[in-house]
Amino acid sequence: MPSSNTAFKAVIQLIDESGTGTVVDLGSGWGNLVIRLARRYPQRQIIGYELSLLPWLTTKIIGKCLRLKNLTLYKQDFYKADLYNASLLICYLDPLAMLKIKNKLAAQPGNINFLISNNFALPAWQPEKVIRLNDFYKSPVFLYRVSRVPQKTAV
Ligand SMILES: C[S@@+](CC[C@H](N)C(=O)[O-])C[C@H]1O[C@@H](n2cnc3c(N)ncnc32)[C@H](O)[C@@H]1O
Repeated sequence: MPSSNTAFKAVIQLIDESGTGTVVDLGSGWGNLVIRLARRYPQRQIIGYELSLLPWLTTKIIGKCLRLKNLTLYKQDFYKADLYNASLLICYLDPLAMLKIKNKLAAQPGNINFLISNNFALPAWQPEKVIRLNDFYKSPVFLYRVSRVPQKTAV
């Protein structure tokens, strides 16, 4: 399921606080987010990882047609990817995936400064900001600052 338009607007608000480094969408789906990000931020590198062939291929074709030189798409499991040079991670996944991402961040924080998550919290992490969408569930979009020091777990 792709991010909604309102979620996209929230992501944009949060991205504007995240500097100029490389943005990685963990599970880029049909490209809803990465295509629009690559157009909006031509000065930033936008990377998408996607496991499913058809969504990945579709995004790749759209990116080529739009000549988005700052967009790179990998048909790859992002858990196995080297995210060392990423500055901002974005995701719209599920609670189990968030737990795995939390563990990956603890093991290899690399140069990651921020993580934006649509709807699902990073377990035991304190968000720096939360935007509530104007939808039925008041769905949250979280901005986390990734610290190099392991965070305390909640009790
Ligand atoms: C809910 S969609 C979000 C799509 C897009 N990020 C957006 O916000 O519109 C999640 C996507 O993550 C992909 N995905 C899930 N686990 C993955 C993994 N380990 N590696 C790469 N892609 C993955 C799924 O195939 C799906 O397309």
